[in-house]
Amino acid sequence: MQDLQTLEKEISANIEAAVDIDSLEDIRISELGKKGRVSLLMRELGTMTPEEKKAFGPKLNALKNGLNNAIQDRKNILEAEILNIKLLSESLDISLSSATEDAGSIHPISQVMDEVTEIFTEMGFSVAEGPEIENDFYNFTALNIPEEHPARQMHDTFYFPKDEEGNRKVLRTHTSPMQIRTMMEGEPPYRIIAPGRTYRNDSDATHTPMFHQVEALVIDKSIHMGHLKWCIEEFSRKFFEIDDVKIRFRPSYFPFTEPSAEVDIGCSFKNGEVLIGEGDDWLEIMGCGMVNEKVLENVNLDPKEYQGFAFGMGLDRISMLKWGIPDLRDFFAADLRWLKHYGFQALDIPSLSTRSSTIKGSK
Ligand code: PHE
Repeated sequence: MQDLQTLEKEISANIEAAVDIDSLEDIRISELGKKGRVSLLMRELGTMTPEEKKAFGPKLNALKNGLNNAIQDRKNILEAEILNIKLLSESLDISLSSATEDAGSIHPISQVMDEVTEIFTEMGFSVAEGPEIENDFYNFTALNIPEEHPARQMHDTFYFPKDEEGNRKVLRTHTSPMQIRTMMEGEPPYRIIAPGRTYRNDSDATHTPMFHQVEALVIDKSIHMGHLKWCIEEFSRKFFEIDDVKIRFRPSYFPFTEPSAEVDIGCSFKNGEVLIGEGDDWLEIMGCGMVNEKVLENVNLDPKEYQGFAFGMGLDRISMLKWGIPDLRDFFAADLRWLKHYGFQALDIPSLSTRSSTIKGSK
C-alpha cells in the first residue's frame, strides 16, 4: 500500500515535470507500457490470494486510471502550449505596410497609351486593334504605296520570307494599315484610334526598332483640315496640360494623305533633359493629312461624298516629352532601376485631373 502511494507520487511528479509530448510518452511507456512498472504490478495480481487481490486490485486499478488521466491532462496542457507558441510566431501584423520591394510598375508607355486612349475616347473616338504581323497589301499597297514606290524605302521594313505564292508579310511599319482594315470592315462614318506596336530597322536616341504609334482616322461628309488641326491642338493641350503648347505644322509628303503635314512640339534638349514648354528645339510627334482620294477609292468610298483626315502619332515621342526622358532607347533597355524611377504604381496612377504635379518640366 505504502509502496503504491510512493509510486503514484513519484510518477505523478514526473508527469507534471514533463516538458514536451515526447518525454511524456516516454513516461507512459516506462510506467504503463507492456513492461512498465504499473503493468508488472498488474501481472503480479495473478499470483496473489483472493483476499490479497480484493485488497490490492482496486487500488492498483485506481492508480492506473489516475495515472492515465494525469498523462492525458498533461498532454492537453502541452498541446495547448504548442498551439499558443505557434499562433504567436505565425501571427500577422496587418498594420505593417506590405513589402513593396519587388512590386512591378506600369511602364511609362503603357501609362501614355491609357491616357491617349482616354482623351480620344472622351472626344468620341472608338479604339481599333489589328495585327503587328501585317500583309504587304494593308501596310503598303492599299495605302497608295505600290511595289517599287520610293516611299517603301522610307520605312526600313522588316520583311518575312516570301511564301509559295510570292507574298511576304511584314512587321507593320506604322499603324496606318488600321485605316484600311477599318474602312474595309464597316460603313462610314469612321472615327477611330488604333494604338499599338510598330517596327522599323532604325536605332538612335529618338528611334528604336520597335516603337509605338497611335493612328487616328476620321471619315465623314465635309471633314476638312480645320478639324484635323483642332483635334491635334485639343489633344496636345489635354495631354501635355499646357494651354499654349507650341505646335508647328510642317508641310510634308505621305502617299496616303494629300495634303500632308508633320507636327512638331516646341521643347528644349538641354543638359541631358528634354523639357516641353520652353526652348527653341522641336520634336516631331506625328505625320498627318487629309486621306488621299486614291486610298478612299481603294476601299470603295466615293471621294466626292466622303472625306477625312488621318494621323499617326509616335507614342514614345510624346512620352519623352511628357516625362522628360531624352533617350528613347532607355524605354526598352529593361533596366529595373529606370523602370522603378519612371514607372507608375498601379494604385497611384495620376488621373487626368491630378497628374500635373508629376510632369517634369511642364509649366
Ligand atoms: N504612317 C505615317 C508614319 O508612320 C504617319 C501618318 C499617319 C501620316 C497617318 C499621315 C497620316 O510615318
